[in-house]
Amino acid sequence: MKQLFSLLIVFSFGFTQAQTVSSPSGKISLSFQLSASGQPTYSVNYKTKSVVVSSDLGIQLKDKPALNINFEIQTSKNNTFNESWKPVLGEQASIVNHYNELVVALIQKGTNIKVNLVFRAFDEGVAFRYDFPKQKELNYFIISNEDTQFNLTENNKVFWLPGDFDSNEYEYNETQFSDIDNSKINMNNGIGVKSIPGKYTVQTPLMMKSPSGLYVNIFEAAVVNYPVMHLKADVSSYKLKSELVPNAIGDKAYLQTPCVSPWRTIMISDDARDIVASKMILNLNEPSQLEDTSWIKPMKYVGIWWEMHVGNSTWDYAGSQNATTDFGTKLASTGRHGATTDNTKRYIDFAAKHGFDGVLVEGWNEGWEDWFGHEKDYVFDFISAYPDFDVKGIHEYAKSKGIKMIMHHETSGATRNYERHLDVAYQFMKDNGYNAVKSGYVGNILPLGEHHYSQSILNHYQYCIEKAVDYEIMVNAHEAVRPTGICRTYPNLIGNESARGTEFQAFGGSKANHTTVLPFTRLMGGPMDYTPGIFEMDIAKLNPGNNSHCNTTIANQLGLYVVMYSPLQMAADLPENYNRFLDAFQFIKDVPVEWATSKYVEAEPGYYITTARKDKNSNNWFVGNVNGLNARTSTISLDFLEKGKKYEATIYADASDAHYKTNPQAYKITKQIVTHKSKLKMTTASGGGYGISIVEVK
Ligand code: NOJ
Ligand code: CA
Repeated sequence: MKQLFSLLIVFSFGFTQAQTVSSPSGKISLSFQLSASGQPTYSVNYKTKSVVVSSDLGIQLKDKPALNINFEIQTSKNNTFNESWKPVLGEQASIVNHYNELVVALIQKGTNIKVNLVFRAFDEGVAFRYDFPKQKELNYFIISNEDTQFNLTENNKVFWLPGDFDSNEYEYNETQFSDIDNSKINMNNGIGVKSIPGKYTVQTPLMMKSPSGLYVNIFEAAVVNYPVMHLKADVSSYKLKSELVPNAIGDKAYLQTPCVSPWRTIMISDDARDIVASKMILNLNEPSQLEDTSWIKPMKYVGIWWEMHVGNSTWDYAGSQNATTDFGTKLASTGRHGATTDNTKRYIDFAAKHGFDGVLVEGWNEGWEDWFGHEKDYVFDFISAYPDFDVKGIHEYAKSKGIKMIMHHETSGATRNYERHLDVAYQFMKDNGYNAVKSGYVGNILPLGEHHYSQSILNHYQYCIEKAVDYEIMVNAHEAVRPTGICRTYPNLIGNESARGTEFQAFGGSKANHTTVLPFTRLMGGPMDYTPGIFEMDIAKLNPGNNSHCNTTIANQLGLYVVMYSPLQMAADLPENYNRFLDAFQFIKDVPVEWATSKYVEAEPGYYITTARKDKNSNNWFVGNVNGLNARTSTISLDFLEKGKKYEATIYADASDAHYKTNPQAYKITKQIVTHKSKLKMTTASGGGYGISIVEVK
């Protein structure tokens, strides 16, 4: 004991005095200290609990001494910030941005290089970044590694994705921290790219739960001109260290001062709802500089899409040579091009009849006969339509029905080719009545050797978003980097896929609890174009050559429209499947895509989430639930409703015998009058869920 005591004295002796910043509520605090060697370190506490213990901060430079030791503190300053701002589109009309800040200005002995560390403490967590001021000692520099540690203390439960440099279209692995191991999982990233991360490298957002029930989420915000940060786990000591995605020659980031790193974020709460409700990631991004945002509009849409995924039609015009789709599904019949003028008009009619805003058409343009897998640079020009797709005629027809067309640009990963055509492609959209584009990056990134998540390719996605502003175009990018709150600065980024979306339900299915994890992970940084709304789960009924099963119930699919916030929501199934279940389809027709306010009623990652949101344009509320594998009954309170008002609730729930595998289409719809005093006892099936619309009775 005596020995330990003297050891502790020696250990703490060499450190400078800790400087602390606490969250406005006082629950979370971060302490900064320089070690005896002048190494910057930090630690984080939640209430009285130590969550992150002394963890190093530092940057390795190529051909220069590392920025990790020999630092001295020049100045340190504390600030407070409290404002609210109005997102153009969002889960709530107004967002509070309240934090305390500590800025420590450091100088490195010997080199005289100056680095500022900026720490912010919010009520839901902490964030920090490296800030490199303009100085003669550091102008151009190359980051070869970032040495940011997150030293945790417990063998947490972790929801993790392998640290693939190109894709996050994986199932979540739910294991103890000590069992993180990429060599034990199927490394098929779903986009036709081979990317082999280290055995213990995982992606962020990394969602964890400690043995005592503390929820911890590590992520990053405002990743601009920088690569993505993955984390390398030391599985025996519960430590994590940043691992930046390399470029083609192994470097991480090329920078010039003045510049900043992205924010590294750690959210902590003993209530999982605080994590999903947090707006910290958005708050850490710069406010939008766009003066006119009137052209940025939410959209509910249908499209020529699922029929290709299930294998009922093809993207390509000539007909697939092997009678399979490009994703390997055996076709119901060969040579059926999906994007024909007649088929598009059928979808436009359906959209107009049921009050949708837009129609997406994929496979409309030349190039799909041979589009990925061979590193072809020049595949698509984004303006040449197949002969059976009449761009002008469709524009006129859609306009006459009040429908906006949604453009599709599959880049096949050829970023240079896309940039080569971008102006002409966006102008073509403007000329033909398209104000939103779904882009995609399937296959290896070209230039070869670059990754979907390396610095220059992130700059490519950013370039496409910024250029789209010039043309007043909204962007929804698939296979691009997962968002880190960029939509605050560029609200025309209305969606991303960038996780395992519904398409995988046609390629063998996803785990039934997948969508109970996404709000804690992928959705932290911005809306997801998850493409919900599948009503026919047995894909063989649509195409006998495809035995995939969608692991969800119809009621679960309805719940997704509320749980998975997005200003862009697809009703992904075929019109004929909606026509079979028009009463359930009514919920999809009614559910809004922009909200005045949102409440998280219940949440447990991997198990369930229940979200209530108030429509931005009426007094109506919508509640959605998605449930994991265990059937569940819970009583929810409607205390969020306005006092003194009466509402009619229409409840779209799993039937008592529903089950995602054996009986996914069993639902029941009931109505009842409710007020803010009402409580509803809700039962959800395995892989089930519910949607409730609550309409004011006047
Ligand atoms: C993958 C996208 O996620 C999917 O939505 C799209 O249909 C295909 N790529 C083809 O571009
Ligand atoms: Ca995808």
